[in-house]
Amino acid sequence: MLRLGGDVLVTGNDANRKDASACAEVLLPAAEQSALIKACRRQPAANTPVWLMRQAGRFMKEYREIRSRVGFLELCKTPEAAAAVTVMAVEKLGVDAAIIFSDLLLPLEPMGVGLVYSSSEGPVIEHPVRSVADLERLVPVVPAESLWCVAEAIKLTRAALPAGVPLIGFAGAPFTMASYLVEGGSSRHYAHTKSLMYSAPACWHALMQLLSEVTVSYLNMQRAAGAQVLQLFDSWVGCLSEADYREFVLPYSQAVIAGLPGDVPVIHFGTGTAHLLAAMREAGGDVIGLDWRVNLHDAWEMLGGSVAVQGNLDPCVLLSEPAEIRKQVVRILSEANGRPGHIFNLGHGILPETPFDHVKYLVETVHELGAAEVIVAHGA
Ligand code: CP3
Repeated sequence: MLRLGGDVLVTGNDANRKDASACAEVLLPAAEQSALIKACRRQPAANTPVWLMRQAGRFMKEYREIRSRVGFLELCKTPEAAAAVTVMAVEKLGVDAAIIFSDLLLPLEPMGVGLVYSSSEGPVIEHPVRSVADLERLVPVVPAESLWCVAEAIKLTRAALPAGVPLIGFAGAPFTMASYLVEGGSSRHYAHTKSLMYSAPACWHALMQLLSEVTVSYLNMQRAAGAQVLQLFDSWVGCLSEADYREFVLPYSQAVIAGLPGDVPVIHFGTGTAHLLAAMREAGGDVIGLDWRVNLHDAWEMLGGSVAVQGNLDPCVLLSEPAEIRKQVVRILSEANGRPGHIFNLGHGILPETPFDHVKYLVETVHELGAAEVIVAHGA
């Protein structure tokens, strides 16, 4: 038996796990008792857990200071630095979970498409994939070889975090990854992506198949390295109709989630997905991410009883004043109504211009008002 960061590591070959070789170690039990993992499993917890997408980022002066010395990709690919930034966010904010500092697009770099982060345009793919010939040029990715730095960062982070703070690993869902590969960067209308999907469906399906396979092995690698929850980001899938989602996306997101070990909670996240919630639920996940465009109570009702939810404050609320932040926390907690299985989060990432004190105030307010006894006393 090994010990790491206060957790007990056991070796197992549980028959439920699909990829036993990648999941030789399972972390027990301190994080299992955390409010976050209890919420993922819809068990009652002492408080509503809160963490924030992009909790380590430019809104924090310590992060900006590090970035003035180190490039973004270099930071992501240096395990000690990525672990330090991950832990710093937890310590500064007092959130209930860590998310490994990395980027969604990291797995695209070893495919040989020329990933660069430009300070003006954000991520740019120098050689986008828009044809079968482009697809055939993609270098096959073996995460254990070309993305080992993420596994290493997870191991270091797990060792440095308090045992009761779970560590979230993540990856992009096939659609959102495909959208960057095909567009060559961020996009407004996803015109190239949708053209490929409609005009060259065989090429589209082959691309989605390739991305889903890489994602399964990337997430299994993160799990084996010590990630205790996995989040699948399908940030831009809300641009599709439900019919197109079902035909062109659902089977691949479903295959990714089905390819993960059954003992690790999965958060399935998207934005602008009010019309896709039932279909995303079918694709899978123990927790469905909601953005601010939906009422949390109504969306949860629609999803049915067998799933937890995460969300759903508008990140722009953090640009206002503490009184408004508090008002909106009260509203979201009352929509959740004390039902086990709510993880408080933003509907999307923290904006760089957000005042640090507002983020800290948000976390404190969720802890104050989301304590089980306060919810019971006020009938939230
Ligand atoms: O949440 C966290 O704190 C963990 C780290 C994290 C980052 N990116 C760091 C980052 C996570 C979980 C992501 C996910 C990510 N990256 C997504 C999915 C979530 C979402 O926002 O929808 C997407 C689409 C990306 C791709 C990406 N990376 C974009 C579009 C950009 C540019 C926009 C921006 O915010 O700068 C990035 C860069 C990026 N990823 C930064 C950080 C901290 C800023 C880089 C910098 O320091 O200059």
